[in-house]
Amino acid sequence: MELFLFKEHHKKKMISKVKVLLALLCVTVVFVYIGGFMLQNPHLQDENCICKKCTYDNENLFMEHFNKSVEPFLTAKYSLPDDAFNWWRRLQNERRNYDVYSKTVEGLFEIFPPSPDIKEPSPDHCRTCAVVGNSGNLKGSRYGPLINVHDVIIRMNTGRIKGYEADVGTRTTHWIMYPESAMDLDNNTHLVLFPFKIQDLEWLRKALTTGFSGTSYMPVKSKIKANKDLVMVFNPAFMKYIHETWLEKKGKYPSTGFMALVLALHICDEIHVFGFGADKDGNWSHYWEALKDKRLRTGVHPGSHEYETILKLARQLKIKFYKGW
Ligand code: C5P
Repeated sequence: MELFLFKEHHKKKMISKVKVLLALLCVTVVFVYIGGFMLQNPHLQDENCICKKCTYDNENLFMEHFNKSVEPFLTAKYSLPDDAFNWWRRLQNERRNYDVYSKTVEGLFEIFPPSPDIKEPSPDHCRTCAVVGNSGNLKGSRYGPLINVHDVIIRMNTGRIKGYEADVGTRTTHWIMYPESAMDLDNNTHLVLFPFKIQDLEWLRKALTTGFSGTSYMPVKSKIKANKDLVMVFNPAFMKYIHETWLEKKGKYPSTGFMALVLALHICDEIHVFGFGADKDGNWSHYWEALKDKRLRTGVHPGSHEYETILKLARQLKIKFYKGW
């Protein structure tokens, strides 16, 4: 009887060992198959990104909208397509023609770098970026240390740092502005101009040299401090691409913050997004001031569509979104 029980026990042990071996074999087969599939389909992996989760891999919203071929910045060699110029000139009722535009751009590259200073993707470095919008939800967030760690830190318009360091951090590598939202920068920060009319391009040159004396829909600084060698000018065709492809032509044109975010999708491997989101009344209030215009909403921009898109990108792990306080 005892011998019988011993044999039964031994048999059961053998069966469970065989089961474990079979399971291991199955797992190995699946891994080898997936590995082989990935090698045969290099577009499914991002060979230039070593981040834990790369922006440029796979599917859904991101792949539907992302178009790598549109250049984010103007260069001395680039010529803006007519259709993009015609779309762009309607944003702020530009009356002057393409020739004036292209002569003005040509003049810019006499004093600013002919191509932008952007880090190319590389298999041995993960380019991490923080995009910092100006939402009131940054107030009390204590996000400062989470923002400061990134390679690229993009801020914009009249955003404040002094007095808000614990919430918004201290470092900046790129500051996006247009004449009506211009700020003085230190010598190490890239000035990124988002131009909305030819006068904005003229302003850039003059504000950094002889001084600008024109007028606009708001007061404009005649001179600003910034390093001329770190100036970059956003491409109007890239704005059109964001409006049409990412925002399906909603709103008059995309907000500075949303364009900064799509820019980051093109030049970063890993993106952390802060300072986006309207207040409880649907207004785009700022973290450093009380709302002046109670009926501001999101201006001419498709604020709720932009916000939904940000949430979707976060769900798909293309960005990490910090919702604020
Ligand atoms: O107000 P301002 O345009 O300077 O803010 C920068 C960007 O931050 C906006 O273009 C918008 O994309 C974003 N923002 C936001 N929610 C707010 C304020 C600003 O999403 N409450």
